[in-house]
Amino acid sequence: MVKYLTGMRDEFMEQQVYFIEGDGIGKEVWAAARPVLDQSIKLAYGQSKKLVWTELLAGKKAFAEVGTYLPQATIDTLAQAEVAMKGPLETPVGTGFRSLNVTLRQTLDLFACIRPIRYFPGVVSPVKHPERIDMVIFRENTEDVYAGIEWQAQSKEAQKLIAFLRDELGVQVDPTSGIGLKPMTERGSKRLIRKAIQFALAQGRKSVTLAHKGNIMKFTEGAFRNWGYELAAEEFAGKVTLENVPSCPPGAVELKDRIADALFQEVLIRPECYDVIATPNLNGDYLSDALAAQVGGLGLAPGVNMSEKLAFFEPTHGTAPAIEGKDLANPGSLILSGALLLDHLGWHEAATKIRQALELCITMKKVTIDLASQMEGAQQLSCSGFGELMLSNLEKV
Ligand code: NAI
Repeated sequence: MVKYLTGMRDEFMEQQVYFIEGDGIGKEVWAAARPVLDQSIKLAYGQSKKLVWTELLAGKKAFAEVGTYLPQATIDTLAQAEVAMKGPLETPVGTGFRSLNVTLRQTLDLFACIRPIRYFPGVVSPVKHPERIDMVIFRENTEDVYAGIEWQAQSKEAQKLIAFLRDELGVQVDPTSGIGLKPMTERGSKRLIRKAIQFALAQGRKSVTLAHKGNIMKFTEGAFRNWGYELAAEEFAGKVTLENVPSCPPGAVELKDRIADALFQEVLIRPECYDVIATPNLNGDYLSDALAAQVGGLGLAPGVNMSEKLAFFEPTHGTAPAIEGKDLANPGSLILSGALLLDHLGWHEAATKIRQALELCITMKKVTIDLASQMEGAQQLSCSGFGELMLSNLEKV
């Protein structure tokens, strides 16, 4: 049972959900996923609860309809919203096109990217004991090199900055370099770590691990670690204990830290020792995809980006251009993101039904190509076929 915001929201019988279809496989996965979400609610609550879906434009669909990739109307609506969902949005590599995802995260101050990673029995995994993996990653979402403050090599701005570094700070940077900045603040780090600790305490989780590269980047990643321990002392005294401290108060969450590269090894070798992970943006990006792969791939990896107001649910995967329009995509990640949304609303019965129906699909070995290609004796379903099987399995769980 997961409550991502404080307080249950059961009093809302009709919940407005804004959604962005997304690019690439977005259209297909939504077509399969949305009926599953609606049906799970109907089966769990009859007519007494309902999601009211309102589409917002973004990405290629927005460009085709209104001539811009991220209309102001979409941003304005989301700025007032509490619950929304989105499909993947394309970012062409190396073209100077600003990522819509990054723009949305920054404009809406969606500072926490939360990704639960668990194993569904039956899914083929590249590791021996995927069942030992049960982690929730809290990734800072607005700072770090990932914030996209950078200048192209040889540009006027890059050269100006390089000259400033040389003349004012005595730092020699190759004048042909492209330049990126890595800002990380105390406020940004602490609010993310605070959310992770609050979550761990509320969910009875054992530990929070700060994942950083502070041995090398002392004043950004190292500061993230230090601010984490400082926050724990300031705000969670008696509720958080430090690693290897023998007197651990009952119910306390252990706070520890790991260098990011070492943690990559640890989550492969000893995943059971890690529970909630709080990490700066770029480490979190790598870690969440790597962990998703350990439990069977991006097709079953849900997520939510949160500000203090808005919970914006989305699958972890991108637009999967190679399989776009072929009815091959796995809608599981979007469906599971929907289950997280239902949990967030306090509609746990519907969320549980979805997870059980999905487990049943896997037990039946009827799955989409990404899973079927690895699962011996599996029957390959299309994206739409998987959605239909989910609907039928919802009746059985
Ligand atoms: P990707 O996640 O789209 O694809 C990676 C691999 O996973 C591909 O082999 C793809 O076919 C497969 N895959 C992804 N989702 C799948 C699904 N639901 N079912 C079956 N197979 C699936 O990542 P990639 O190729 O790096 O990015 C493609 C585009 O998506 C880029 O423009 C990127 O910027 C964007 N993207 C958007 C995200 C978002 O909106 N949150 C997240 C990640 C990427």
